[in-house]
Amino acid sequence: MNRYVGASILALAGMTIAGAVPTAQRPSVPGWPYGYFMPAAPGQAAPLCVDPRKPLSCARPAAPVPDDGIVRTLPETTRKFTRNQVFFDYGPGDWYPGDHPAMPEIVARGREQDTLRACSLCHYPNGKGKMENGHVAGLPEGYILQQLADFKSGRRRSADPRKANTNEMIAIAKLLTDEEAKAAASYFASMKWTPWVEVIESDTNPKVRETENGLFLPLDGGGTEPLGQRIIEMPKNPERTNVLRDPHSGFVAYVPKGSIAKGEALVTTGGGKTTQCAICHGDDLNGLGNVPGIVGRTTSYTARQLYDIKAGTRNGADTPLMTKVVARLNDADIIAITAYLASRNPQ
Ligand code: HEC
Ligand code: HEC
Repeated sequence: MNRYVGASILALAGMTIAGAVPTAQRPSVPGWPYGYFMPAAPGQAAPLCVDPRKPLSCARPAAPVPDDGIVRTLPETTRKFTRNQVFFDYGPGDWYPGDHPAMPEIVARGREQDTLRACSLCHYPNGKGKMENGHVAGLPEGYILQQLADFKSGRRRSADPRKANTNEMIAIAKLLTDEEAKAAASYFASMKWTPWVEVIESDTNPKVRETENGLFLPLDGGGTEPLGQRIIEMPKNPERTNVLRDPHSGFVAYVPKGSIAKGEALVTTGGGKTTQCAICHGDDLNGLGNVPGIVGRTTSYTARQLYDIKAGTRNGADTPLMTKVVARLNDADIIAITAYLASRNPQ
């Protein structure tokens, strides 16, 4: 049974996303890092960006959610917002203004006339971001600018063609002026990365459901299922993440038993398969020069990058330094490395 009705209609019409790797040559990557249970079937892809100069037109079409008018709040803030204020595309609710310096306009509000949604909508005002997006706080400014350039030039794409939000990120990067990119990069680089993920080694995981954008949410009915060879990550508190966009409420990742120790060995010694990560990412893996910090990020994000680099869909100006690192890693190695990195607390 095919649950991606929209995508299969596109496939019937013979369409693929602009610049996408043709299906026949597309390397296969597992579904879980991208927020899906199954790898993409041939022809499954996000709908085309209706107008690449309008980033919002790359998002999956969604019916507007009527505001229930309920005024919500969170601990340790005096701010109050309704659901639609929390999710307003061009100035989403900022629960904790004391957490961060004044936001540049592009981060706080984006550019409404071009449907360029605020960076803070998806990456949060404090840059922590969600598993299906990315984490931008504490990254080196030069690295952020390079990523924006790579998205813009087409050198950074998702290996999973269903990932509409990466397509929107690409369209955003294409529209940013140099000044906006610089302002956003220096803003996010000015904040430190802090702990965000709890890693639990287990044989089982709470049952989750897929959502449109690559966020797993625990099933209302509860229950567990065998984890197998995957990592299943979800918000620690689904209501706070999914309804309130709480930038203080992080994630929990269920990883196979033994993966943290196995990952530690690979990361610190290379295990004859890869290079010691600290050589480039710094002794504590919190970043060195323009090489980004890699600890304490969500497991889905990290695994996605390792797969994208291996698949060649992420091939930016500085990515060649990583190509050999991932070349011989198999799925189990990627799971182990990812679990270990997420389990390390940033300093
Ligand atoms: C609609 C949601 C959305 C918005 C709005 C958005 N991004 Fe992103 N961003 C993403 C997604 C999704 C990714 C991760 C792509 C992936 O994993 O394939 C990403 C990744 C990034 C990365 C790469 C992080 C890394 O560690 O390499 C940077 C930098 C970034 N975004 C900056 C920005 C800036 C600056 C803005 C505002 C101008 C912005 N983003 C607005 C969704 C968004
Ligand atoms: C020779 C230098 C080098 C080594 C060794 C290295 N890296 Fe990297 N890594 C980089 C560079 C440079 C980037 C940025 C790549 C880009 O711009 O696309 C990067 C990016 C990454 C990213 C993506 C970060 C993000 O925010 O998107 C991850 C994850 C990563 N490395 C993991 C690792 C792991 C795990 C190891 C060890 C097994 C490792 N790296 C070893 C240089 C290195």
